[in-house]
Amino acid sequence: MNINWSKLGFHYTETDYIVRSAFHGKWEDGRLAGEWEKPYATKDKNISLHVSATCLQYGQEAFEGLKAFRGADGKIRLFRWEENARRMQRSAEGLKMAAPPTELFGEAVRLALKKNIRFLPPYGTGATLYFRPLLIGTTPRLGVGPGTDFEFIVIPSPIGPYYEGKFHCTSFVLNRKVDRSAPLGTGQFKVGGNYAASFRATEAAHLAGFDCMFTDSKTHKYIDECSAANFIGIKRVESRRSKVEGGESRVESQKSKVEGRRSKVESIEYLTPRSSAILPSITNDSLMTLAREKGMKVTRRHIRTEELADMQEAAACGTACVISPIDKVIDPDKGITYHLTDEPGPILTDLYNTLQDIQYGRVEDRHGWCEVVES
Ligand code: PLP
Ligand code: COI
Repeated sequence: MNINWSKLGFHYTETDYIVRSAFHGKWEDGRLAGEWEKPYATKDKNISLHVSATCLQYGQEAFEGLKAFRGADGKIRLFRWEENARRMQRSAEGLKMAAPPTELFGEAVRLALKKNIRFLPPYGTGATLYFRPLLIGTTPRLGVGPGTDFEFIVIPSPIGPYYEGKFHCTSFVLNRKVDRSAPLGTGQFKVGGNYAASFRATEAAHLAGFDCMFTDSKTHKYIDECSAANFIGIKRVESRRSKVEGGESRVESQKSKVEGRRSKVESIEYLTPRSSAILPSITNDSLMTLAREKGMKVTRRHIRTEELADMQEAAACGTACVISPIDKVIDPDKGITYHLTDEPGPILTDLYNTLQDIQYGRVEDRHGWCEVVES
């Protein structure tokens, strides 16, 4: 095996084993009753599926994404996998599927890690072992409705550092032409259909040299998500001492860019959208906790696109990139370009480093976010 870990990128690299577990059930009093088989490892990466399986016919499919890190101390850490298990359970509920119980989810991920340990990238390369847990409906069905049989599969792949070289910014274009999900649809679930529905917009943005920033599908006034990541905006609320008549000084508060040497930052606000259609990101949840601990005000609310003008920093966040800072956002409908920063800003850089320090075991894991796994 000859892998250049730091050159991997976010692409699939085949490992030795995947892990599988099947469920066979039946509906009883509105509840899907049945049993999951014990997860087992197999070298065969192909599955035999009936052509009428509900995942193929009616989109009964959900997935997850989480990482294992080789720490600075040589230990292996799985980051917040229970949250991924719980989110898969909510996705399953959203599409009327059976969900792997949390214990079984953890057992399958740990087995996938142990059986593919030679694919866990060494510390210092920036690469990690990514797990893609997948849940599909396997019941053959032509009548429209949910199936009773499911397969849970954990697919590992080493992935490279998101940032080849330096932590850097990307540019976004606001989209009001394509909705990735309806306001009360499946956007809050991690299901394949949301991604297929977003491709028209994301591919058009990529062709133009940008990433795609979705607006809310009801009014298109508010920021929803950044491609396949949550949005974070940082606002600095300043207080400034200035001379007034009579020689006394007073404190002026204003929300604006830092001006002049006499400005003093009073508070920092971490803003993230409240929306019924976005995926609750585990990375965003972790960053919000860290931001509060650093004394920031964390606000989750509707964010008008025009508010980008008042932000000093912004980023996309998710498992793959952790934080991906944004330098500018184009609004093609209004002919506006919002310039944020040329380089990643200090607040998001600090949050990025703090979270990575926890994931790589460089600081104490005070929240119990990492499970140390014996190899
Ligand atoms: N939003 C979407 C649509 C995603 O696909 C992801 C990635 O999983 C995220 C947000 C970020 O979520 P997480 O931080 O749990 O990876
Ligand atoms: C992430 O893990 O951050 C993602 O964006 C998920 C995507 C690769 C589906």
